[in-house]
Order: sequence, then C-alpha cells, then structure tokens
Amino acid sequence: MNMVEKPTQLVSKEDIKKRVQLLGKQITEDFRGKSLTIICVMKGCIPFTADLIRNIPIPFKLDIIHASSYINTESTGTVNILFEPVLDIRGESVLIIDDILDTGRTLSKITKTFQKYSPSETKICVLLDKPSRRIEPVYADYVGFEIPNAFVVGYGLDYNEYYRNLPYIGTLE
Ligand code: IMP
Ligand code: MG
Repeated sequence: MNMVEKPTQLVSKEDIKKRVQLLGKQITEDFRGKSLTIICVMKGCIPFTADLIRNIPIPFKLDIIHASSYINTESTGTVNILFEPVLDIRGESVLIIDDILDTGRTLSKITKTFQKYSPSETKICVLLDKPSRRIEPVYADYVGFEIPNAFVVGYGLDYNEYYRNLPYIGTLE
C-alpha cells in the first residue's frame, strides 16, 4: 500500500461536520437528565470525540480506554486492552465512542470488559460502520456513516499510525 499525501476522498470534512452536529443533538436529547460518562477508544477516536463533545452541551464526564488489534490493514483478531478507564462507571450511563465498527471484535471486547463495572447502560457511537465485515454481533446506537468494505484513513483512522491528521475520510489504493 502506497503512502500518498492525498488519499481519495470518501467523506468530505463538510459532511463530517454536519453529521457530527446532528449526532451531538441526538445524544444530547437521549442522555439529558442522566448521569453520563463518555468513554472514547484511543487513538482513532481523538478528532471525532473532540468535535462531537463540543456538540453535547449537557454535563458529562470523559474518560478513555485504549484498545488495539490492527497490523497494517489487517485485523489480527486479538484485541488488546492497553489501558482501562480510571473513572468509576458503576450506575453510570456509558457512551462509548470509537472511530469505526468493522469486525466488531474491539467493541465486543470493550463492552464485555465494562460489564464487570456495572454501568446502568452502555451505548455505542461510531463515526463509521462497515456492516459487511461484521464477525461479532455488535450494534451501534449512533452511526455517522455506513461505508462499503474498503480500508479507510483520516479523521483519526490510521494506516500504521499515519494519516490520523487528515481532515476528511479517504481510501488508499
Ligand atoms: P474491529 O475490532 O474489527 O471492529 O475494528 C475496530 C478497530 O480497527 C477500529 O477502532 C480501528 O482502529 C481499526 N479499523 C477497522 N477498520 C479500519 C479501516 O478501514 N481503517 C483504519 N482502521 C480500521
Ligand atoms: Mg487503528
């Protein structure tokens, strides 16, 4: 796979911005009055979370979990939880934010990891969903864009740790 400066655009930064505003509104209404902790999955979640949380004006706490499974463009099948949340989420409404729902292995493992902390509910928000790739039965409550089965980079998504800074979502040839 070539390291190009300008991957082919799949989702523009304008479309991302509009969709993130709508997701923020929806999440705000759904969690209003609840004790909410948002947990983002490092590191792909960084730009998406940064933009999304500024569209959620209700009170909430923010924490991180660090999971990793990819080498090059292939999921290794083994998900490693490198860092767990520090905040106490017992009885909390938890909203997990990730960049992409692909095979579902990562979010399945994370959801199971959280069960031991007894949150009152766990919801999932992803920027991108590749439903055709699903192996584990994971359902995302909030989805930015459904995309076809292609390896994408940008807006947090990486290829070997590069391209997270791209302001749009693109494909590599
Ligand atoms: P899953 O465990 O297969 O659902 O994969 C989820 C994780 O794999 C995401 O959080 C991403 O870090 C990574 N991933 C999956 N598909 C892509 C892609 O097309 N580009 C970059 N990273 C991806
Ligand atoms: Mg990744």
